[in-house]
Amino acid sequence: MIDLRSDTITKPTEGMRKAMYDAEVGDDVYYEDPTVNRLQERVADLLGKQSAIWVSSGTMGNLLSVKALTLPGDEIILEADSHIVYYEGGGTPMFCGVQMRMIPGERGVMTPMQVEHAVRGTGNAHFPRTSLVCIENTHNRMNGAIQPLDDITGIRKVCDEKGLAMHMDGARLMNASVASGISPGEYAKYFETVTICFSKGLGAPMGSMVAGSEETMHTVHRYRKLVGGGQRQVGVAAAAALYALDHHVERLREDHENARRLALALADMKGVGIDPDDIDTNIVYFDVTDTGKTALDVVVEMANQGVMMLPLGDMSVRCVTHLGVDTKDIDTAINAFAEVFGR
Ligand SMILES: Cc1ncc(COP(=O)(O)O)c(C=O)c1O
Repeated sequence: MIDLRSDTITKPTEGMRKAMYDAEVGDDVYYEDPTVNRLQERVADLLGKQSAIWVSSGTMGNLLSVKALTLPGDEIILEADSHIVYYEGGGTPMFCGVQMRMIPGERGVMTPMQVEHAVRGTGNAHFPRTSLVCIENTHNRMNGAIQPLDDITGIRKVCDEKGLAMHMDGARLMNASVASGISPGEYAKYFETVTICFSKGLGAPMGSMVAGSEETMHTVHRYRKLVGGGQRQVGVAAAAALYALDHHVERLREDHENARRLALALADMKGVGIDPDDIDTNIVYFDVTDTGKTALDVVVEMANQGVMMLPLGDMSVRCVTHLGVDTKDIDTAINAFAEVFGR
């Protein structure tokens, strides 16, 4: 099967498994895992932050970041289709006691003016306190869209004026960086906290990291223990993440090229709704409304031809490229699509 459901389905390569086998380990709850410590220093450096801390998942990283930067009763501003809103089980309001103000962005991008208008005024007892803006880079539900730096800096200006913090869900920040040529540190410098994930395009089996100031990471560390996220000889996983940073960053370009190749081919197929110019990185959504089929029809017919993908909504299908598929696989998928849709 060619599996285009997600970039999270990748399996560790032989080199990565060897790095995991060879990893020096210790008890990370006592700060004694040398491989985790090495990874934390490396990621803090990469993101230009004082400190970084290992967490088991992107969801945990987002949750602990929001918790560290807010108080119960606060309101936080997020793009309406963001992962925190859509796919994190309502954990943010439940665990942090905050309410979410959801702003519909253009391809997942909120403008500084939208954010400014959403911030609650102070001095009115009816209003919650706005304390945080979260930005997702790249944006999962919006074709892996890259957040333009101009919007980020504009929103930072609003946040400075209003006294708000900023968190970046950078699960796929390395995709954004490779595609845009903007360094991870340049993106990160506008945010109090930044997460990155190793288990997506980078191809590791698990693990994410939160980076920020020493003080904020102390708070994140405490909350990590509180949610049961303190792990012990987790250097075996950190070794995979280090390997991924050494070997799997530059190759993200191949995933982006494969996604574009797929999008260009889909744009030529009967009734398929897609604009290839909307594909910034490795995530490809297309609409099947005018094909006479539902998303589920398409997914089943493609699975019968050996290609797996996800229906997202009744009429939308998602394909994601990753290190487990090469250009030949994409061409095989394109031929299967041609059978399903006709050219
Ligand atoms: C943008 C984004 N943020 C956060 C997450 C959550 O990561 P995890 O599945 O490791 O909890 C994902 C997962 O796909 C994601 O796409």
